[in-house]
Order: sequence, then C-alpha cells, then structure tokens
Amino acid sequence: MPQSFLKKALRDFHPYVPGEQPPDGEGWVKLNTNESPLPPSPKVIEAIKRAADESLRLYPSPSAAAARTAIAAHHGLQPDQVTLGNGGDELIELCFRAFAGAGDLVAFPTPTYPLLEPLCQIHEAVPSTHPTELPWDLPPSLGSDPAPLKFIVNPNSPTGALFAQRDVEAAVAASSGVVVIDEAYVDFAPRSCRGLIDTHDNVLVLRTFSKSYSLAGMRIGFAMGNRDLIASLDAVKDSYALDRLAIVAAGAAIEDEEHHRRVVAEVVENRGALAGALVNMGFDLVPSSANFVFAKPPKPADEVVAALRERRMLVRHYDREPIAGWIRITVGTREQQERLLQALKEIL
Ligand SMILES: Cc1ncc(COP(=O)(O)O)c(C=O)c1O
Repeated sequence: MPQSFLKKALRDFHPYVPGEQPPDGEGWVKLNTNESPLPPSPKVIEAIKRAADESLRLYPSPSAAAARTAIAAHHGLQPDQVTLGNGGDELIELCFRAFAGAGDLVAFPTPTYPLLEPLCQIHEAVPSTHPTELPWDLPPSLGSDPAPLKFIVNPNSPTGALFAQRDVEAAVAASSGVVVIDEAYVDFAPRSCRGLIDTHDNVLVLRTFSKSYSLAGMRIGFAMGNRDLIASLDAVKDSYALDRLAIVAAGAAIEDEEHHRRVVAEVVENRGALAGALVNMGFDLVPSSANFVFAKPPKPADEVVAALRERRMLVRHYDREPIAGWIRITVGTREQQERLLQALKEIL
C-alpha cells in the first residue's frame, strides 16, 4: 500500500500531525483531547525517577511482566488474561492485526472513536457501521452483524453516553466473532462490562492509563480477556511495546488506589459543575459518563470554537452529521472551567 495513502488515513484521524503539536504552553487552556487535568500519583513520579538508572541500557521485559502481574491482581485475573500496549491505541491496532484480515468486516456503532475508520483502511478491512442517534442507544443490528471483529466504545466518545448493560451483553451473546469493549473512560462511569470476560470467551475489555491515571504522556494501555484472545494479541505485538519507565509507572499507578479514587472523584464533581453551567447558558447536553461533556452551543459551533481559540482555549469541534454543530469539552480543573465559562459568557 503506498505510504502516502497511510499517511493520509492517519492525518484524517489526527487533529494534529507531528510537528504541528497543539499549543499547550503557558496560558493555554487545553480541553480538546481528554487528558486528566490533575497530576499523576506522586508515587508514580518517584518510581519513574528511581527506575531512571543505568538499567535503561537493557531492553524492557517483552511482556511488561511486572505491570501485567500487578494489573491482573488488581482486576482479579491471572497474568495470562492481561496484555499491555503502547497506549490503548496500540491495542486497538493489534485487534485489527489479530482478528481482521483484508476484506473482513469490522463492525461498530457510529459516531464513535475516529481511529477505527482509518485502521479499517490501513488493514484493508471493510467498516460495517451501525448508526446511532440521540439518545445514543446501542443499535440491536450490531449483534447480528457477521463481522469477525466488533468494537463497542463504552462510555462512547465523543457522545459520553453509556450503553445499557443488557444491550452490550445481548450484542456479545449474539456475536460469534471477537467483541472489543473499549473502556477508556469507564472509571468515570457508574458501571463497567469487565464482568463479561468471566462469562463470554469472545470479549476483550480495553483500558488506558491516559485518562483516570493521568498518564497520557507515558503511553500505557491494557487488554483483559480470555487467554486465547490475549495470546492472539501477544502473537502480533511488537517485541518491546512498553519501555522500562512505562512498566514501572503502570505498576505504581495501579497500586496507588487512593490517588486514583481522588482523581476520579474530582473529575466527576467538576463534570457536574461544568454540565450544569453549560445547560444554564443554553447548551444542549448529553448526560456524560466520561471525563468530557458533549454539548451543542446555542450559537454556531465553529464560531464558538474559533472565538475560544482566540482566547487561547481549545475544545474539540465536530462538523460531520449526525454530530455537526456539537463540541466536546474535556473536564478541567475548577480554574480552567471558570476561564472557559467566562469566555463563553462573552462569546454567546
Ligand atoms: C475511545 C478511546 N479509546 C482509546 C483511546 C486511546 O488512549 P491511549 O492510546 O492514550 O491509551 C482513546 C483516547 O482518547 C479513546 O478516546
């Protein structure tokens, strides 16, 4: 496949290409990529500093063994039911490598995480999309789709909506292929589908350290599921996906449960405050189970987003149906949200 095609597919997905990093320096309020507004656990920083020693001359554990064991213990699993990747994004890509060949269908509800479409192009798979609309329920047609690989992002992005548990379970039960439940945002939600891996052999649950663990810069994700599915992912992964510092960071982060609980609680509280203020300003809102809110401003979204940018504030704008005119705002600190709301008062 020509290199230029791959680059274009990825450029269509990424709002910023390397070399055009978003301005995130002094004075910018960056609420466009759902990073955590709070710092990682001090224990994680300490563990990384301690690990930054002469052992960095050696390759890391190919299986990220220490982190795999810690994550498995945390989730009540055996280490061979868990594998790690260089961010959740790498695990999504490994699912394509392992379970979807050229010409195969890959099914998912839309709108959803925009990485899936370009990955279909890159792997020459055929996207089988199942459109959803407000209030964004999981379409029953997903279960009967014959695709060997399906994705359910739950809570979904960019809508923030949480699909009903019984609908997800019904889709899994009706599927003969692999169903990947991407739970990147689940720690901010009232429930998870983690239990489905105990009852269904065809389910993989994906998680990331980028959101609720405040470690987007370290690039750590993990998958949980049936041993055979995990072995299939391991068979197609690169040798050393996680570096030594990331392995140490993952272990330390999963063990500091108290810090994790504090981050989640503060983000959920700030989400409520942000959502309430936006509703009062005339925005339409979808109830969010994630670390962002999805909202339709009472004025054209492109004007609002441009006016925010002039004031050094970044939010994510959508211009394609069925979500044209909507924006996604990452939950920030109280100070960041105050600045945003003040700016919106001037703009609207
Ligand atoms: C739905 C979804 N899945 C997976 C990811 C991947 O996260 P990461 O590669 O940072 O672990 C993201 C990131 O924003 C996401 O929104």
